[in-house]
Amino acid sequence: MGGEAPRRTLRASFNKIDSFELSDGTSIPWLAWGNGSAVKDSHDAIEKGVHALKCGIDHIDTAELYQFERETGEAIEESGVGKDRVYVTSKLGWDEDGKPIALNTVRSRIEITVQKLGFIPDLFLIHNPHVVTSEDLVPCWKILEELKDEGQLKSIGVSNFRPQDLNAILSQAKHKPVVNQIEYHPFVLSHLAPVLAIHEQHGIRTEAFGPLTPLLRHSSGGGPLVPVLQRIAERLASQHDQVLDLKAVLLLWTRAMGAVAVSASKNSERIKWLAKVAKLPEDLLTNEEVNEITEVGKKFHFRHYTEHMEVNFPVPNLPSE
Ligand SMILES: NC(=O)c1ccc[n+]([C@@H]2O[C@H](COP(=O)([O-])OP(=O)(O)OC[C@H]3O[C@@H](n4cnc5c(N)ncnc54)[C@H](OP(=O)(O)O)[C@@H]3O)[C@@H](O)[C@H]2O)c1
Repeated sequence: MGGEAPRRTLRASFNKIDSFELSDGTSIPWLAWGNGSAVKDSHDAIEKGVHALKCGIDHIDTAELYQFERETGEAIEESGVGKDRVYVTSKLGWDEDGKPIALNTVRSRIEITVQKLGFIPDLFLIHNPHVVTSEDLVPCWKILEELKDEGQLKSIGVSNFRPQDLNAILSQAKHKPVVNQIEYHPFVLSHLAPVLAIHEQHGIRTEAFGPLTPLLRHSSGGGPLVPVLQRIAERLASQHDQVLDLKAVLLLWTRAMGAVAVSASKNSERIKWLAKVAKLPEDLLTNEEVNEITEVGKKFHFRHYTEHMEVNFPVPNLPSE
């Protein structure tokens, strides 16, 4: 199956969080709480996970590398929400030494992921193209395809894949990756143009990690995006009675671009805030507002997580400040 992944979300699910369609016919809630960056220890991963679920978040992003797969399963159990109401993503990682893993360990690693979670994740990704050697990348994807065909995995996708990585697996794929989870926000759009073109051609849904980077991690605190986001926040307050901060507007832009937002927090109040943003109605931003954020962002290049996407994938000659 190919073609652009639709930007509109599906009808609200049980707890009012809308979903995007994936190319394999399944759907994915548009916003996830990740336990990879903000959460530091096992106790937090369970406690904050339970809190996120009780606030209504229905999508948890975890990974073998985060070492919180068991805690993800425990949080769902403890929350009482029920696994059938929570979408879970996990990812194939490497060992602590960061060396590529051997192909003959892939199946057993995935078995351990399933054991730790206590269920098959709804979505399973190759965490980055360097998890295996470049020669092993296509064979690794083939193993994920086999596991899917055997019913041992559900949806399968990739993360931090550059054009060369996507092209390598797409040329031989039986099942195309349904998502590519990448750092995605206005300040990486120019660099990502070739990646996004491949997503569009093959119906690969963009998943955006680090979506708040321009506001949280850029030295200017958002630079030229700030007045644009501010103006939109003011319009939403006056026309829709929605009092939203700039971070919420940036997450709404992510959604309006058709990307799943993968954010994080260990702070209880901010988790509650994230759940509130997740439940906002679709189409709060006008097309003009979405395009304005896009156009302002495209004139800069700033990435927080540089370790995978900027290797052998030249960055554009644009100001970072
Ligand atoms: N596939 C990959 O290679 C990859 C790489 C990176 C991340 N991820 C996934 O994406 C998730 C999110 O990544 P990210 O942390 O970069 O996302 P982000 O949404 O850009 O940033 C989240 C950070 O922002 C802070 N924050 C959240 N809401 C806030 C608010 N309203 N005001 C102020 N600060 C706020 C949080 O700190 P507090 O805890 O203090 O609230 C948290 O540390 C990870 O947990 C992981 O699941 C995947």
